[in-house]
Amino acid sequence: MKKLSLLFAFVAVAIASQAGGNNDEESKITYPMPQKVKAVMESKCFECHNDAGRSDKAKKGLNFSTLDGFTNIEKIATLSEVKKEVSEGEMPPQKFLEKHPEAALTPDETKLLVDWVQKESKALLKKK
Ligand code: HEC
Repeated sequence: MKKLSLLFAFVAVAIASQAGGNNDEESKITYPMPQKVKAVMESKCFECHNDAGRSDKAKKGLNFSTLDGFTNIEKIATLSEVKKEVSEGEMPPQKFLEKHPEAALTPDETKLLVDWVQKESKALLKKK
């Protein structure tokens, strides 16, 4: 993780949180996921990883707003990145967590996301 991207991430969140309750943006996430999973992502991931996010770098890495339109193979690849980042504790970025420790995923939330990603990837593999 490069320093510059962390700075971008931080700025992105500062701007996103200034914009106030971004319920409109959250509801733009059309990718189907269980409510519990969505709730975690909404509070801990979407602010950087949706269309409203100001950090192009974060969006380039992952944009949940466009995930629904991906091919199955792209979805699987993306989900596997999510699993990797989350299980290795790389997301939310460390630099961001220094200022916002409450944004860290709890062990339960990490497990919830990882379990969902695995289940979802398996389901996608079966689809054609
Ligand atoms: C503070 C903003 C911020 C938050 C919150 C955040 N991310 Fe990120 N994320 C970034 C940035 C910036 C990058 C690009 C990092 C890079 O390329 O070095 C990124 C990249 C990624 C990537 C792509 C990794 C890659 O190798 O390109 C994934 C997957 C990801 N994030 C998942 C998540 C998940 C899941 C959450 C919630 C648990 C989350 N992120 C929360 C800023 C954020």
